[in-house]
Amino acid sequence: MKIKEPLFGLINEDISYQMVVSDCLPILKKVEDNKFDLIITSPPYNIGKSYEIKKSIEEYLDSQVEIIKELVRVLSTKGSICWQVGNYVNKGELFPLDIFYYQIFKKYGLKLRNRIIWHFGHGLHASNRFSGRYETILWFTKSDNYIFNLDNVRVPSKYPGKRHFKGPKKGQPSGNPLGKNPSDIWVTLEKDWKSLLWDIPNVKSNHPEKTAHPCQFPIELVERCVLTLTNENSWVLDPFAGVGSSIIASIKNNRNAIGIEKEIEYCKIAIKRIDDLKEGMLKIRPINKPIHKPSGKDKVSQIPPEWAQLKLVNLSEK
Ligand SMILES: C[S@@+](CC[C@H](N)C(=O)[O-])C[C@H]1O[C@@H](n2cnc3c(N)ncnc32)[C@H](O)[C@@H]1O
Repeated sequence: MKIKEPLFGLINEDISYQMVVSDCLPILKKVEDNKFDLIITSPPYNIGKSYEIKKSIEEYLDSQVEIIKELVRVLSTKGSICWQVGNYVNKGELFPLDIFYYQIFKKYGLKLRNRIIWHFGHGLHASNRFSGRYETILWFTKSDNYIFNLDNVRVPSKYPGKRHFKGPKKGQPSGNPLGKNPSDIWVTLEKDWKSLLWDIPNVKSNHPEKTAHPCQFPIELVERCVLTLTNENSWVLDPFAGVGSSIIASIKNNRNAIGIEKEIEYCKIAIKRIDDLKEGMLKIRPINKPIHKPSGKDKVSQIPPEWAQLKLVNLSEK
């Protein structure tokens, strides 16, 4: 039998982690103040997924306010909240959830540090508006003195050989030898970190991390936040943990983690994924892996022969 190479070393045994099967609110109420350096989550979007009952936007947001109040309480003073959301759609009208959530977090005194655009190149094709190809991550901190380890996530500069051309540093390299700031648009990781932007594919059917969950986080997206906004041995919380992507990203990087998820089936998958991680068997998209691009020779990138006879009008060619 062929033995698979473990993808990662074993998890540090001193790291604690827990997946709790429950509604998050009663659990949060039992947690001590200031425990977590990072709360990272993707809440339900109220779009009628299998795990939620669609409500009016007002009712939906009201139900989140009480949870957010508790989250702010359990966040450490140096801590961050990363809130990843997309749009709620009602009868074709779009409600960008981050706009609504911003007001709530602001009310509880948090400060926005970045509104990160997470762009993905595929998804549903709209016919009455432009197809949606991004979601956002609102990154808030509790104070001005927050953990921010930029060097952990720098990406190679496009022109590392650039030099100062005037002033006292004339002739010296102008960039940072560790690379540059990855910016607030997380897009195409074409060849590893080569492009200007970070590209993290969203987890769809051909992705190695895909589970039964309809909208899980890519682990590498969480890893970037964990590596930047926490220190080793920090505590990380995901109150809507799904299949445990945030927990995996945390323990893989020596952070303690708690996930709360109301659906037992998702919790079971999370536990299985964590066990697989421990054994080095978790299917995971390595953080630097390039994204597949059709070569042009692939059938999918060629114009179907049936379309050759059609007189296609493209305004950009006029
Ligand atoms: C958008 S998904 C999060 C997926 C997760 N990021 C992952 O990678 O698997 C939201 C999750 O929140 C769970 N959920 C919804 N309301 C909840 C609540 N009040 N308490 C705990 N979990 C809840 C849903 O069952 C769903 O799995």
